[in-house]
Amino acid sequence: MNASDFDYICQLVYKRSGIVITQDKGYLIDSRLGPLARREGLPSIDDLVQVLRSRREERLMAQVVDAMTTNETFFFRDKTPFDHLKEEVLPKLSQARRGGRIRIWCAACSTGQEPYSIAMMLDQSPAIASGTVVEIVATDISDRTLEKARSGLYTQFEVQRGLPIQMLMQYFTQADEQWRIAERLRSRVSFRKLNLLESFAALGKFDVVLCRNVLIYFDQPTKTDILNRVAAQLAPDGYLMLGAAETVIGVTTMFEASRERRGLYTPSQKAVKAA
Ligand SMILES: C[S@@+](CC[C@H](N)C(=O)[O-])C[C@H]1O[C@@H](n2cnc3c(N)ncnc32)[C@H](O)[C@@H]1O
Repeated sequence: MNASDFDYICQLVYKRSGIVITQDKGYLIDSRLGPLARREGLPSIDDLVQVLRSRREERLMAQVVDAMTTNETFFFRDKTPFDHLKEEVLPKLSQARRGGRIRIWCAACSTGQEPYSIAMMLDQSPAIASGTVVEIVATDISDRTLEKARSGLYTQFEVQRGLPIQMLMQYFTQADEQWRIAERLRSRVSFRKLNLLESFAALGKFDVVLCRNVLIYFDQPTKTDILNRVAAQLAPDGYLMLGAAETVIGVTTMFEASRERRGLYTPSQKAVKAA
C-alpha cells in the first residue's frame, strides 16, 4: 500500500472513531482490510481504497472503521474491577439507592463478555438490597460485535477465557458447537450502538461507568473530551472504572483516583460542582 492510501485509511478511521493507527500498526490494515476487500469481490486492498475514494459509499466506509476496531475481551477480564464492584461499589450504591435504581454503563462492550460478567456477578451478589433495580447498558461503535453480544452465543474458546466452570454450568447451555447465555441474563443487558466521539447525553445519568481498554486507542485530546463528558453523565457519588493500562492522570481533572483500589475513580469536587 502506498503512503497516500495508508494516510487515507488512517484519516478515515481517525475522523470516524478517534482510533489512531500508527505507522508500526500498519500491518493491521493488511490483516483486517484484506478479508473485507475479498468479501466485496475486490482483488486487493489497493482496489478497496480506490473504491472508497471514488464512490465514498457510507456502508463501505462504516465497514472499514468496524474492521479496524480491536475487539479483544473476555469474561471477568483483569478480575480487579469485578472485585471493586462486589466489595465496594455495589454495597455503597445499594445503601445509597435502597429500593431505587442503580445504572451501570459499559461504554465499549465489544462482544458482551464485560456486561454479562456483571450480570452474572449481580445474580450471585447478596450486596444488592432487595427492591433495588440494577440496569446494565452496554454500547459499542461496532455493529459486528454488537450483533454477537446480543446473540449471547460464545465459542468453547471464549467460555474458557476467564469464566469459572461453575458459572458456565449455571448460566450457559450448549447450542450446537457454541454456548448460549441464559435468557434471564441476556435480557438484563440493553445493547446499543454508540460512538464515543458523539454525544451520549441521551443515555441519561449513570452510577457506574466502565470505560475499559478503549481510551488506549485514542489521542490525548480525544481521551480528555470523552472523560469530561463521562464525568457529566456520572452521579456525584458514582464511580468510573478504566482498563489496567489507562488513567485519568494528566488527562482530566474531573476524576480522582482511589488510593486503595487500582483503576477505580470518583468524580472530583470540580466535576461535582459542574454537574
Ligand atoms: C478492546 S475492546 C474492550 C472491550 C471491553 N471493554 C474490555 O475491556 O474487555 C475495545 C472496544 O472499543 C470499541 N471502540 C473503539 N472506538 C470506539 C468509539 N469511538 N466509540 C465506541 N466504541 C469504540 C471497539 O469497537 C471495541 O469493541
